[in-house]
Amino acid sequence: MEYGYSEKVLDVFKNPHNIGEIKDADAIGKVGNPACGDLLWMFLKIGKGRHVIEDAKVKTFGCVAAIATSSILTDMIKGKTLEDALRISKQDVVSELNGLPRQKVHCSVLAVDALKEAAYDYYTRSGISVPEDVKRAHEHNSIVAERIEHME
Ligand code: FES
Repeated sequence: MEYGYSEKVLDVFKNPHNIGEIKDADAIGKVGNPACGDLLWMFLKIGKGRHVIEDAKVKTFGCVAAIATSSILTDMIKGKTLEDALRISKQDVVSELNGLPRQKVHCSVLAVDALKEAAYDYYTRSGISVPEDVKRAHEHNSIVAERIEHME
């Protein structure tokens, strides 16, 4: 344990997976953390038909916890349908990392929210009706991200 982080968090942070952008992404989700002002983007390639996530990448200005949670979430969602991926909770991500220091749990929300934002983008672009919980999350996330981006 270093700074209260599990070995798993530190391993993922030192060797994160799926960092960067997907140029021809089918969906992009952008979220901000109101507690610290950090931003995170998620890019998805999604197969037509069953909407299977073929590729996922993230880009973030966030901390160790934000990088570790977003990296592990991209590993967890690849190969899943978008619908199944959306069932993954913040707690599932934290458990997959063998825990996070309590004061860093707010950072883990970013990755899960970015996935919801990407889903909103995908459903909207594809003309698919957006599930209520994704719609509600989008209303909140888009306001926070805009505020953060326009902060001096
Ligand atoms: Fe900003 Fe963790 S402190 S995302």
